[in-house]
Amino acid sequence: MRVLGIETSCDETGVALYDTQAGLLADALYSQISMHAEYGGVVPELASRDHTRKLLPLIEEVLASAQLSRSDLDGIAYTAGPGLVGALMVGAATAHGMARALNIPVLGVHHMEGHLLAPMLEDAPPAFPFVALLVSGGHTQLVEVRGLGQYRLLGESVDDAAGEAFDKTAKMLELDYPGGPAVARLAERGDPTRFRFPRPMTDRPGLDFSFSGLKTHTLITANRLREAGEFDEQGRADIARAFEDAVVDTLVIKCRRALDQTGLKRLVVAGGVSANVRLRERLEQETAKRGAQAFYPRGRFCTDNGAMIAYVGAQRLLAGERDDSTMKAVPRWPL
Ligand code: KG4
Ligand code: ZN
Repeated sequence: MRVLGIETSCDETGVALYDTQAGLLADALYSQISMHAEYGGVVPELASRDHTRKLLPLIEEVLASAQLSRSDLDGIAYTAGPGLVGALMVGAATAHGMARALNIPVLGVHHMEGHLLAPMLEDAPPAFPFVALLVSGGHTQLVEVRGLGQYRLLGESVDDAAGEAFDKTAKMLELDYPGGPAVARLAERGDPTRFRFPRPMTDRPGLDFSFSGLKTHTLITANRLREAGEFDEQGRADIARAFEDAVVDTLVIKCRRALDQTGLKRLVVAGGVSANVRLRERLEQETAKRGAQAFYPRGRFCTDNGAMIAYVGAQRLLAGERDDSTMKAVPRWPL
């Protein structure tokens, strides 16, 4: 079954073709990051308009690169949520319109399920069951995954998501949007011994996260340095390092607990923050210590992309799931 996947939930237009026998045939991505950068964050109305401009050309691009035409498609999958409602509607309307014209099935899928199963696109994918740490701009969750659609939430953030904390810290440090990669780059030059930031909610049992206190701690430290005239390149790098170490430590501690609690030996780490190099290094050490193994998507499939949506859609369409004639755009939707 050849499935076209469409991702338009936020600021990336992603399109891909997945074949349930041959695997990933093609994928293309258009990032709106530079357009939103001057506003310091995603402007929803601009995002929707840009998806409208870029989506059809990207669909033509992936079909051409796989040397296929629309009539070769057996199904279409699109991100139905969670995300920005206007942006979601561009993908949903396009998917439903095309599917109606081609008389093929169409299915709206969950964006976070896409992230969760993105490592399945790699050469050595994890077998079920596994623990998944989902760390993106909107979510921080630990999930026990027993199979397609068999998800048990183990813990999640009670306030900010990890990626959101990175983005807000970047603003405090006067770095550009998106913040995660910028904070990580600056942290490389930071002194890890100058500050020690709190590891929120690690001193009590449980698998929930909280990052808003850490954000406040970062702000207070930044203000203190500013008043002392030490908010220079080194001071900012030292804050970035202390912040990154605190987030990474917190995530690693909770992953360790989740593996212990479930007795599982496989850990999937996905979503934008899974691109963080220090997080990967620490998780490699931790999993190696306990005879477990960590799995990640390749770099460009850590952040939003069409391939993960094509993959999830293909599995579910193959199992017979499809939308009725109503398109779905669900801004808030639990996994
Ligand atoms: O999964 P994603 O592309 O979009 C959402 O579904 O939210 O994740 C984007 C998030 C942003 O908050 C971004 O700052 C963060 O992932 N991010 C990183 C890194 N690369 C992206 N955070 C830390 N380190 C990175 N290298
Ligand atoms: Zn995402």
